[in-house]
Amino acid sequence: MAEPLGDWTRTHTCGALRADDVGVESVLLGWVHRIRDLGGVTFIDIRDREGVTQVVVRENEALMNAAKRLRSEHVVGVKGVVQRRSDDTVNTKLATGEVELLVRELRTLNEARTPPFQIAEDSPVSEEVRLKYRYLDLRRPRLQYNIGLRHRVTMAVRRFFDANGFWEIETPILAKSTPEGARDFLVPSRIHPGEFYALPQSPQIFKQILMISGMDRYFQIVRCFRDEDQRADRQLEFTQIDVEMSFARPDTVYGVIEPLMQQIFKEIGRDVTVPIRRMPYAEAIARYGSDKPDLRFGLAIADVSDVFRDADYRVFKEIVAGGGVVRGFAVPGGNRYTGSQIKALVDQAKQMGLAGLMWVRPGEPPVSAVKGLNEATLQRALAQADARRDDLLVMAAGAADGTSKLLGQLRLVIAKKENLVPADSYALLWVTEFPLLEYHEEDGRWYSMHHPFTSPLDEDLDRLESDPGSVRAKAYDLVLNGSEIGGGSIRIHDARLQARLFRRLGISDEEARVRFGFFLEALEYGTPPHGGIALGVDRIVATLAGESSIREVIAFPKTANALDLMAGAPSPVDARQLRELHLKPQG
Ligand code: AMO
Repeated sequence: MAEPLGDWTRTHTCGALRADDVGVESVLLGWVHRIRDLGGVTFIDIRDREGVTQVVVRENEALMNAAKRLRSEHVVGVKGVVQRRSDDTVNTKLATGEVELLVRELRTLNEARTPPFQIAEDSPVSEEVRLKYRYLDLRRPRLQYNIGLRHRVTMAVRRFFDANGFWEIETPILAKSTPEGARDFLVPSRIHPGEFYALPQSPQIFKQILMISGMDRYFQIVRCFRDEDQRADRQLEFTQIDVEMSFARPDTVYGVIEPLMQQIFKEIGRDVTVPIRRMPYAEAIARYGSDKPDLRFGLAIADVSDVFRDADYRVFKEIVAGGGVVRGFAVPGGNRYTGSQIKALVDQAKQMGLAGLMWVRPGEPPVSAVKGLNEATLQRALAQADARRDDLLVMAAGAADGTSKLLGQLRLVIAKKENLVPADSYALLWVTEFPLLEYHEEDGRWYSMHHPFTSPLDEDLDRLESDPGSVRAKAYDLVLNGSEIGGGSIRIHDARLQARLFRRLGISDEEARVRFGFFLEALEYGTPPHGGIALGVDRIVATLAGESSIREVIAFPKTANALDLMAGAPSPVDARQLRELHLKPQG
């Protein structure tokens, strides 16, 4: 039975009371977290967003009876006096653990059905059940922390941008398609039969137009929509910290985002050393086999092609002679691997797609997978890969990028298996000078690697037609622990260059006019040089919270299967609604 709150006002949250408050009269309002009925005395843990406080009911019979009727997740109010806990019951794990509230009055404000899982325990529950009952899941301390952290991060972001002369400007959600490379969500127009709005994949064109409009420095914490396959780090709708600046060079952008990252990391009490390390894309691919290298650990890939150019190992020699490479990395502690451990490693490498994995154990003399190689060759290979006495050097040969990429995957697997990723560490990195374009074999066309508004590097521009694959862009990604947390670029501000790039992408003048005509026209009215970036809020907060899925830091996420299990979306709509939107019912 629900009792009224009456004239009670909360005096403290459930995380507030301390030893200093002993003797104070307090009113706590919250949920029954746990109950322990010891006969003559009942202990109830009461929980709210801020914490848990133990309250004690004893002596008074009416109160004892009321307490007995309580169940987990009932909503209660208690009025009482703060007292020190006896020494043997002090709970050092709890912020309020030195005190308890001796209850004088108790009100059951509402009852609760037995929840499908225990809020108090971190007991295993399927994600399906958690998402169906998200309101209960969100009561758990871990998610309360995550959602609170997300709030603190976005507040820090707003304070930072405000202090640095950026204006938060809202851009439309009912918009026109922006090319970010994913599928659009479309919204049918009732007023204009057969026509559709697109939900923004990002506010890219709008923020560039704001620069043309003289807004100078813009930011927005903004929802973006992309109809793509879901992963642990991808949702259909996600949140960006979207930024654009006039008169910007890449350094101008780094100079704003680096102190921003410092502010964000302060929320978990960590420092970020600036400047953040920078690495050109080509080096990231060659040395780590990835455009988002995880630099929390070493295992950098070295090129040892030279060593094998003239060595007595035909396989490597021929690959190098044919323009390929031999690359490898030292596995820390790998020297102690047994024969069967090495075989498992080689099998794994083959499974990942490498043709084979050659290895060398340092020693006097070194031992290698291939017999007959002379000691000097092996010593040179070990030295070039910086392999120490305890390591095992592993190498593979083939085309440069392909070999590095596969070795890069092996690097991640080994680092995880060998526990080489230090817990609780953060490695930030700018990956710079991305290629402007990438060629897609399936339709024989060039595509923008970032988006088609990205500016080429000035010194590469003259190769746009003759050797498009070699043109680098003024584009950069921000990488945190091997995850891409942001991406941006300096934009093309010259309408003629923009038109030239569209031609290079095989977008006809007519198509460009239909898709981006308004933007191309705007570019002609005095566009300042400008550039920016967008950071993924969900990915940043998930990493800070130590979560492996962004679903853990989003209040109401969709499943991997793109469903909202709580509300039941997507769902059918009735025929009348469809007719109004000029859509035909299915079937
Ligand atoms: P980009 O497409 O790289 O750039 O997106 C920027 C950042 O947004 C995050 N992100 C996602 N997070 C969760 N789920 C998704 N489906 C998802 N997609 C992207 C990533 C990514 O780094 N308009 C450009 C930015 C610019 O050029 O200024 C853009 O959207 O962390």
